[in-house]
Amino acid sequence: MNVYDSERMIDILKPLGFEISDDPAEADMAILNTCHIREKAEQKVYSDLGRLRQHQTNRQQEQKELFIAVTGCVAQAEGAEIFRQAPYVSMVLGPQTYHRLPEMIAKMHRSTDKRTGPGRGIIDVDFPSEAKFDSLPLTQETRVSAFLTVQEGCDKFCSFCCVPYTRGAEFSRPAADILKEAKHLVKQGATEITLLGQNVNAYHGQTPQGQGTWGLGDLIQELALIEGLKRIRYTTSHPIDMADDLMQAHAHVPQLMPYLHLPVQSGSDTVLKAMNRHHTIAHYKEVIAKLRALQPAMAFSSDFIVGHPGETDQDFEETLTLVRDITYAQAYSFKYSPRPGTPAATEQQIPETIKAARLAVLQELLNEQQLTFNKSKIGTIQSVLLDRQGRQAGQFIGRSPYMQSVHVEAKPRLWGQIVDVAIDGAKPNSLSGTIVTQ
Ligand code: 5AD
Ligand code: SF4
Repeated sequence: MNVYDSERMIDILKPLGFEISDDPAEADMAILNTCHIREKAEQKVYSDLGRLRQHQTNRQQEQKELFIAVTGCVAQAEGAEIFRQAPYVSMVLGPQTYHRLPEMIAKMHRSTDKRTGPGRGIIDVDFPSEAKFDSLPLTQETRVSAFLTVQEGCDKFCSFCCVPYTRGAEFSRPAADILKEAKHLVKQGATEITLLGQNVNAYHGQTPQGQGTWGLGDLIQELALIEGLKRIRYTTSHPIDMADDLMQAHAHVPQLMPYLHLPVQSGSDTVLKAMNRHHTIAHYKEVIAKLRALQPAMAFSSDFIVGHPGETDQDFEETLTLVRDITYAQAYSFKYSPRPGTPAATEQQIPETIKAARLAVLQELLNEQQLTFNKSKIGTIQSVLLDRQGRQAGQFIGRSPYMQSVHVEAKPRLWGQIVDVAIDGAKPNSLSGTIVTQ
């Protein structure tokens, strides 16, 4: 979602005359869009700020400015604390206020804060009542594979998670707005759209007729009618919100990719309860089994946390058992990181060494499964969306339906196309092959 938000910031700032620069040494302004999900991500913000400070000092020696803005969830959580730790930052704004960037930039240029210096100390971490999305312009960029936020925020309050505090309460955009944005993205060249939300499958947006609401399954069916939209994905889902019609969509909507990121976090019912996840392992397995029955091509990815307070060796073994049972195409796994203000942070903590040891064991198993999954594609034909240029001319890195990176040689005109690729190689993180249709 941070990628989507960053893209929207580009869309807002372009009409003001801003252009993207790859080099902070050349930039008039740097926007650090941040993540607060684990402590490591938060620490990275301050080290990145230190590096930007260096560029700022160098530019000041040449009588130039580098205004620094911190946006995203660290900005939301830390607020003015960022100015105290990094007084050279000009602006702090949260994920719900970035549509106000133009007015904040104007304010920054006018400001003469004596304490922090001119162009400093501008902060906006509100949860404004006006809808952010209504204020955002439609993009003028071509994004072959585009993100589209349909839902934001979370009311689930998992014991470990800061999202309900940084992103706020659950909110679903009206379906008409989403359909309009999707059609525009396709007109701009998108062939794949990934629907985004912290709880994307909890989507319940107003219907275009204004009566009642649509779930994600309804929305996907409607999006599938857009001509030129060849692939639809959605992320991230919660197991308790996998409604029947959404599962049915995997059987009946050919554009919906047979791949689902469905975080389970732990394989132990005791830990799931401590995590306040509101479901059991039996329920999770039932959802996976139903989806596999509806769509045999289905593959899964997940998120896991090891070392949540209270997790015993036995609980961790149950996570390994679950992973062996389901077999994942890919997965993310993390050591539990205490987040200030969340319930689990106040519990008795598991030692770092135990967390690290459990993570290593889990990751070895997940990596093994990922390689096996990748190898299972050798000798098959995969449809691949060519959305990235490789390092050398004529090389592309595309995406299979399962989000695998696929290395192929192709004519430049094929950029943005979906081609059939005969897969002849598999590595832990990618596939390779040759195009069978040009
Ligand atoms: N510590 C470790 N991992 C976390 N996640 C969320 N909060 C924490 C935390 N405090 C992980 C979960 C979630 C993913 C986005 O990040 O697995 O699904
Ligand atoms: Fe965080 Fe997801 Fe739980 Fe919401 S459902 S609190 S975003 S882990």
